[in-house]
Amino acid sequence: MPIAVFPPEARSAFTALYPARADKLVHALTDHPLLTLDALAVLAEALPADSVEWNPGDLPIGIDPADVPRARRSVGETIRAIDSAASWVVLKRIEQVPAYAALLRAALDELVDIVVPRTGRMHQLEGFVFVSSPGSVTPFHFDPEHNILLQLRGTKTMTVFPGADERLLSAEAQEAFHLGEHHRNLPWDEAFAAHGAAVELHPGEAIHVPVKSPHWVKNGPALSISLSLTWRSEWSYAEADARAFNRVLRGMGLRPRRPGAFPARNRGKALAWRLMRRLRVGG
Ligand SMILES: [Fe+2]
Repeated sequence: MPIAVFPPEARSAFTALYPARADKLVHALTDHPLLTLDALAVLAEALPADSVEWNPGDLPIGIDPADVPRARRSVGETIRAIDSAASWVVLKRIEQVPAYAALLRAALDELVDIVVPRTGRMHQLEGFVFVSSPGSVTPFHFDPEHNILLQLRGTKTMTVFPGADERLLSAEAQEAFHLGEHHRNLPWDEAFAAHGAAVELHPGEAIHVPVKSPHWVKNGPALSISLSLTWRSEWSYAEADARAFNRVLRGMGLRPRRPGAFPARNRGKALAWRLMRRLRVGG
């Protein structure tokens, strides 16, 4: 029988947190053969080019590239040499490669009995791998998915902010995001810092990040590898659709009430938005 990704203490911690609170879990994927640097280099070469975002770290500085012998690394070489270059690689939607789809499914299957009764069926299971040089920073942003970030190698500090605080993430920004009009990066204000909780992650540790909880990330002094397991849910779709419907109400000069926090289901506004969308497509 394959090893459990989330041992009993991780399951009980997740039970206490899901879906609204951010905090640490543990995991058992640190030494998984699909997640070594070599395996990830092979994965990077197997994924479609638009699923790999990377900085090769060997670009010439102050020299016309035409004058330099072409020595640009491939993404696989970049990953293998990531210790020694100021580089970073993001592998997106790793479930496009069947072995990784199976790993993602197996890991999240362990949590289905906790997730489904609360937020409904799991949809859009997606995995992301972040391989980064020491010290790199991911700026303040939010994501629309439920997320568990597993630290595999090195350390990173994730500072997470409450998703429900509209001073950090305005209603208008959320509505625009769900209508596809807005980038998920957010303006940063030093006054926000007091609202964040910094969680330092070591190999074997993970963090549950609730839907749309803003966060920023700083890598520690060593090469870092992390794996993000994400999914959407019936609940997160309804909240997103209620936000979109609120934009319609706002356009009519109304000041709509914010969608309810979990466990509110937001069914009425979500249904109204889905009906409107269907009518628009049909018309
Ligand atoms: Fe994120």
